Amino acid sequence: MLIKRARFTEPLPSEITPRSLFESRREFMQQLAVGSIAASAMLDSALAQNTAPRSKLAARANPAYFAKDKPTAFADATSYNNFYEFGTDKGDPMLYAGSMKTQPWTVRIDGEVKKPMTLDIDSLLKVAPLEERLYRLRCVEGWSMAIPWVGYSLAELIRKVEPTGNAKFVEFTSLADPKQMPGVGSRVLDWPYVEGLRIDEANHPLALLCVGMYGQTLLNQNGAPVRVVLPWKYGFKSAKSIVRIRFTETQPHTAWNKSAPSEYGFYSNVNPEVDHPRWSQAAERRIGEDGFFAKKRKTLMFNGYPEVAALYTGMDLKKFF
Ligand code: MTE
Repeated sequence: MLIKRARFTEPLPSEITPRSLFESRREFMQQLAVGSIAASAMLDSALAQNTAPRSKLAARANPAYFAKDKPTAFADATSYNNFYEFGTDKGDPMLYAGSMKTQPWTVRIDGEVKKPMTLDIDSLLKVAPLEERLYRLRCVEGWSMAIPWVGYSLAELIRKVEPTGNAKFVEFTSLADPKQMPGVGSRVLDWPYVEGLRIDEANHPLALLCVGMYGQTLLNQNGAPVRVVLPWKYGFKSAKSIVRIRFTETQPHTAWNKSAPSEYGFYSNVNPEVDHPRWSQAAERRIGEDGFFAKKRKTLMFNGYPEVAALYTGMDLKKFF
């Protein structure tokens, strides 16, 4: 049987991942290598399910947040993904994320809030009118996309739960269910995937609580049924398939920061002047537009969203990377 591959050749895992993580990935691939006819049939049904159209979402395009960039093709945005719960290859999320059950789904919102609550997706969809926003997303690995996301400002949800005066940070936790997510059995990260923001960052209107893309509900490989999108930060800050949002007084321990603190800081703002220890962040390749031999495009400070600069006044962004 022909096994379909991701649309792009990915950089070597050894180039993008610390050595220890690269080695656990090999172990994970061995676990997956069942090689049976049953596995091929499962793969076929996973592919069919994972590329099927989703429900349409009515959303008004917000011109204030609509980048002039050419939108990345739907096929590219849904086949070249990072979602390590499903494996570390770019094509793994498309192949394996179909096993994730996204209905019913609830998000627990608690911690330093006056009104803790558990919301299902229908209730989350009603918190504020849905908007379509074309945002650039720049991955720390040196590639980027421009995607028409659907959602509303995270600030709308934050207002609803009424944070207490002690709420200084917001922590996002993704689903980590080994029964549905083959990658959660690996030691690639200390699961669950946790990310975090300072509360003023989370309240910036650009921070998007995202429930869809390309006019329909999110595909599993992109973080269904709910994720965040933070276009001025490297892609790994935009946690997918969120099950809990917790308000805290102290800075959250994020999964990437725990695994390699010298490589992944808490802030992780896109910054062409601060290189990752193993590669430059000065330029990027737009998926679907810039071929491997094309000259890379220059990466812009805060990924070209200068309106967030005021959040970091007086901070040394080389130290707080
Ligand atoms: N969220 C979870 N739960 N697990 C992940 O592995 N990968 C991150 C981020 N969110 C990741 C995640 C990274 S590295 C990137 S670049 C973006 O998701 C990719 O989002 P996309 O696949 O929708 O483009």
